[in-house]
Amino acid sequence: MIHSKIIGTGSYLPAKVVTNYDLEKIVDTTHDWIFSRSGISERHVAAEGEMSSDLAFQASSRAIEAAGLNANDIDLIIVATTTPDHIFPSTACVLQDKLGIKSAIAFDIQAVCSGFIYALNTADLYIRGGQARNVLVVGTEVLSRILNWEDRTTCVLFGDGAGAVVLQRSDKPGILGAKLHADGSQRCMLSATGQISNGKINGEPFIKMDGQGVFKFAVKSLSEVAEEVLAENKMQGADIDWMIPHQANIRIIEATAKKLGLGMDKVVLTVATHGNTSAASIPLALDTAVRDGRIKPGQHLLMEAVGGGFTWGAALIRW
Ligand code: UT7
Repeated sequence: MIHSKIIGTGSYLPAKVVTNYDLEKIVDTTHDWIFSRSGISERHVAAEGEMSSDLAFQASSRAIEAAGLNANDIDLIIVATTTPDHIFPSTACVLQDKLGIKSAIAFDIQAVCSGFIYALNTADLYIRGGQARNVLVVGTEVLSRILNWEDRTTCVLFGDGAGAVVLQRSDKPGILGAKLHADGSQRCMLSATGQISNGKINGEPFIKMDGQGVFKFAVKSLSEVAEEVLAENKMQGADIDWMIPHQANIRIIEATAKKLGLGMDKVVLTVATHGNTSAASIPLALDTAVRDGRIKPGQHLLMEAVGGGFTWGAALIRW
């Protein structure tokens, strides 16, 4: 039977760090408020002119190197992003060119903060369907570009970054399963509705969020989808070695871990130093824990995310 397995990870954070104390100088906020409500201390912000594809290039190069492959071994590139370089071409096509990959399928996925889970599931299906062998799956964001830096309810929460994995066809299961959901009727709770038409921006170009609404939705949907993917694989919270959650808010992560009966010592946390990097947050956290040696062969990982759309999902992995 054909399966898919992650054989390399990589990530990249822009050089510039913005601390909560820096934000105190821009908006009416405090480090204590931000840290106590979200668990965030600092975030990285892309330099002027640094695009999603630039961050993706760095993360992807590291993932391909860790996988022991050459860029031209990649036959499918899937980029999850809410902040693409352009309306078109896709960021995946720009990345393909930057990596010097001559021949591949390349496309973007837009599922906001759940984008990486959606992309990973798509890649797994391509491999199991026999249409791809080595897939580059990337989450990359320059969310700083769609933040209103005068809106304290949003600008303190998000950051820029990229994470990537190489998924390879395998005889043994790596991706054990994934469950995805969407509910477009909830789309107004978290959105950036702006679009370009006839050369003008129509609608709201910055992120708008009903924080409390998102919080409640996230806690409920994440534990439900995690239970769903575990049950489908006849597993329980106790079987999980590492939970690698979307890094939006420490309180959401704690609530989800508690519902699954998982101690916080089994959760990979990067929210304090990365903030919410949307589609990039899970592969960034994964790469952190792979490179520091926490994640070991044979262990079971649970990834889960929720985001605008609304979209949410979870994936179960044997490392
Ligand atoms: O990937 C998914 C994306 N988003 C999320 O996951 C976000 C989910 N939601 C959250 O993380 C939390 O709801 C927030 C961190 C956004 C907010 O925390 P909260 O405990 O729900 O605070 P709140 O919205 O109830 O606001 C409490 C107070 C309000 O003042 P009043 O009305 O009580 O006087 C806000 O105006 O805090 C005020 N406030 C701030 N104060 C200082 C809002 N933003 C700030 C700020 N600094 N940055």
